Amino acid sequence: MSAPLSADTETFAPPAPPRPGSLSDLATYRRLHAESLANPDKFWPEQIAEFHWFKQPDHAFTGKGPEARWFPGGRANLAFNALDRHILAGRGDTLALIWESEAVAADRQPREVRRYTYTQLRDEVVRLASALSALGVQSGDRVTIYLPIVPELPIAMLACAWLGAAHNVVFAGFPSQALLDRIEDSGSHVVITADGGWRNGKVVPLKPILDEALNRTALVRHVVVLRHTGSPIELRAGRDHLWSELVASGDPAHPPAQVPSGHPSFLMYTSGSTGKPKGIAHGTAGYLVHTGLTARHAFDLHPGDVVWCTADPAWITGHTYTVYGPLLAGATTVIYEGILSSPDWDRAWDIIARHRPQVLYTTPTLVRAWIRHGETGLRQRDLSSLRLLASVGEPIGPSVWRWFREVVGAGRTPVVDTWWQTEAGAAMIFPFPYATPAKPGSASLPFFGVQPALVGADGREVVGAGSGQLVIKSPWPGMLLGIWNNPQRYRATYWETIPGFFLTGDTARRDADGYFWVLGRADDVIKVNGHRLGTAEIEGAIVAHASVAESAVVGVPDEQVGEAVLAFVVLKSGYEADDTTRAAIVREIETQVGKLARPREIRFLESLPKNRSGKILRRLLREYAITGKVSGDVSTLDDSTALPPAAPSA
Ligand code: WT7
Repeated sequence: MSAPLSADTETFAPPAPPRPGSLSDLATYRRLHAESLANPDKFWPEQIAEFHWFKQPDHAFTGKGPEARWFPGGRANLAFNALDRHILAGRGDTLALIWESEAVAADRQPREVRRYTYTQLRDEVVRLASALSALGVQSGDRVTIYLPIVPELPIAMLACAWLGAAHNVVFAGFPSQALLDRIEDSGSHVVITADGGWRNGKVVPLKPILDEALNRTALVRHVVVLRHTGSPIELRAGRDHLWSELVASGDPAHPPAQVPSGHPSFLMYTSGSTGKPKGIAHGTAGYLVHTGLTARHAFDLHPGDVVWCTADPAWITGHTYTVYGPLLAGATTVIYEGILSSPDWDRAWDIIARHRPQVLYTTPTLVRAWIRHGETGLRQRDLSSLRLLASVGEPIGPSVWRWFREVVGAGRTPVVDTWWQTEAGAAMIFPFPYATPAKPGSASLPFFGVQPALVGADGREVVGAGSGQLVIKSPWPGMLLGIWNNPQRYRATYWETIPGFFLTGDTARRDADGYFWVLGRADDVIKVNGHRLGTAEIEGAIVAHASVAESAVVGVPDEQVGEAVLAFVVLKSGYEADDTTRAAIVREIETQVGKLARPREIRFLESLPKNRSGKILRRLLREYAITGKVSGDVSTLDDSTALPPAAPSA
């Protein structure tokens, strides 16, 4: 029996688990969670037994704060666990991956569908690993991957993991500047790319963008090029190699690296409150365990299940739950090449009807888009395979949550709202689908080993119900190793603001039942379409334009993308505040940061509101942008004429 919950909000009782073995009551969850924190050395050995260890770890973790390391003494390989473990268990013929192209024929069927069993996928992975090894890639190296959403993207990731090289996947929508920054900061000597990718029916060039970046660095010795779109490319002799030719001579018996638990497995660059994106580095064993266990506990994935996570593997959600999570669980991951409005907004329902996933994991932004585009197409498709729905990336409002469950899940499915972040590695706060009563809009309760807490404005921990900055009080398995190349920034950003606690950058509320309600970012990070953008990064691009004297960027609530970018710009004298200048500024943002950062609006001001020490008052700008007025305490404002008194007419 579950402990009763307070009746302050509507709760949805968890359904009975469809299979034996799932956690099915809240009291057991609470007991296990408490045990995971109180006695980690007793709790974790049992939990990690299902994974393959070349050497068993000595402890759950050692050290604290930024120095904590998980499963010390152990040796493992992420790709071996994701592939060979299942093959050795006799599941080599189970489908590991289904991929479909964006392009469709007149009957809406995709032009191309590729399926890989675990045995086939392993063969591709190990042959590429052997080819990379022949190019000189070794354990401990970094390899940058700049690929569209094709099966070769997970294959490349897994091949790196096979060798113990850290992959650094760069989103295929990024411009050459962002790509160059990530290649250089990671110190990659090898880059894996494609001629191009398909997006919204058009070819997006990739190799030419990489070439532009490589013209400005001598770091890269080898480039592996996948032929995908057939678009024109130049190959530089000695440096550039065709994927197909390399793997033809790859050795399918190349052995996996037996790396220590704390060995870096990947870097993922993400925005913070300063101008430069930071390379979040993850380890091996902690990430493996956290990802593998949450694949089952949050999403109920078992061998042979089919899951569709709509996230691009170039972001952390895709790393963890499009690639590693499903494969660690022995499930089948569905991967879609393109955008979900192609050929129209019914594409998602076609994909579900075609591949029959039990689990759909997506973002509130997408669910809102589906709501806007109506239910007709959805109701014409067979979505009866769906057993569990899940959400991530931004707060999912209660009404969106309910629509998701009622309409997509036909009122039968649990909705698992998962809170986590790039730094976390895997899901941190989520309801156990068959044990935790769900409250729409709340990510609910922490996973095993995760100890979230709230810190109030007075710097003290909030006890019981209340709100504050969301922090994590003790090391958790999937926690980052640090910021690549920058231990100093790592400590300063995450561990020194509230000494001893990990600062998530979010604010949250906890209710009387201990449920967490994540409210949003507390720092200068904007969540557009679930992606993180740093205001300082965008401002840096704006002021790089010759016309701009100063700029401030804020995030404002947006029905379509969650939060939208709004840029305030002060021009140098002699420049016109007109659409030509606007267009030039937008181009600057797109070439430096990428199209994701394209502002919804650019507003010109005579000056920016600042306090007496010259700090830009973004709070005022944001309030002004949203309400058209400025209220509250403006006594620190240096120049009260910086903002017009009322909202400008449209
Ligand atoms: C930030 C992390 C790993 C997830 C993909 C994004 C926000 C994430 C939720 C949620 C409310 C959420 C937070 C967090 N966020 N999940 N369920 N409810 N907000 O990873 O790019 O590192 O962003 O996304 O603000 O800090 P990310």
